Amino acid sequence: MFSLKSKVALVTGAGRGIGRAVAQQLAAAGAAVMLNDLDPETIAGSAQCAGDLTDPAFPQLLVDRTIAELGGLDIIVNNAGYTWDNIIQKTTDEQFQAMLDIHIVAPFRLLRAAAPYIRDTAKREAAEGRRVHRKVVNITSISATDGGAGQAGYSSGKAAVIGLTRTMAKEWGRYNVNVNAVGFGLIETRLIQPLTAESTIEVKGHEIRVGVQQAMLDKVVAACPLGRAGTVEEAAGAVLFFCSPLSDFVTGEVLICSGGMHF
Ligand SMILES: NC(=O)c1ccc[n+]([C@@H]2O[C@H](COP(=O)([O-])OP(=O)(O)OC[C@H]3O[C@@H](n4cnc5c(N)ncnc54)[C@H](O)[C@@H]3O)[C@@H](O)[C@H]2O)c1
Repeated sequence: MFSLKSKVALVTGAGRGIGRAVAQQLAAAGAAVMLNDLDPETIAGSAQCAGDLTDPAFPQLLVDRTIAELGGLDIIVNNAGYTWDNIIQKTTDEQFQAMLDIHIVAPFRLLRAAAPYIRDTAKREAAEGRRVHRKVVNITSISATDGGAGQAGYSSGKAAVIGLTRTMAKEWGRYNVNVNAVGFGLIETRLIQPLTAESTIEVKGHEIRVGVQQAMLDKVVAACPLGRAGTVEEAAGAVLFFCSPLSDFVTGEVLICSGGMHF
């Protein structure tokens, strides 16, 4: 029904989980994909640029490298993220700021870094009488749209990225860039594993507990019309729609991919 042949995609947080499935589906549709992740081992062997998106200089480097190595930039998926939860009185400034840094500051810097290429390329295409759509997909969460207890920082960062999405849809409409967001409910990745003493991830020297208490998981799944968490392939399907020509007349929207569940 569509092909992404000759398109260049950049997917952040592509080493595992939803980002990896998105990268696989983009590649299966024919796109050349640049993978980014904090974890170099998870993206070894592909076109890749490992590094920390919260390092202020890194988003520019990532954009430059994608264009230099793959010859363009047509699709950007701002997916990298993690949770660092606690009730508000136990949330430190560092913890709150870390959630803003990865979920809103990094996507902002990445899109700003891509702006000159997008503007110049779109102007050249327009002068040649061609309309070429480019795509930005920002990943958000029902924690942003509904609020998530224990997630003051995460839900604030994920809500902010919706504002960025709608703003960039307005700024970049003239360049034929569709800018949309996908908000997930529960998707089966390490972020929603049953919470145990071992369910930690390491970010910048911090051992951060990620996961959801089993009782909470059971409650949430029971409240989900489809009665289950989603697979990473199902999550990637919603993202692929916004990366494809099927969404050429959709911009500034948030698609909730949650099996019908809301918090
Ligand atoms: N799994 C869910 O239920 C769920 C629900 C709502 C939203 N989300 C969002 O989906 C996105 C993907 O999450 P996932 O569930 O696949 O998690 P995941 O942990 O499986 O994958 C996320 C990837 O992002 C990478 N990453 C984290 N910080 C980074 C940084 N600073 N620089 C570069 N890479 C970094 C990690 O190394 C990891 O490989 C995140 O934005 C997350 O907030 C997930």
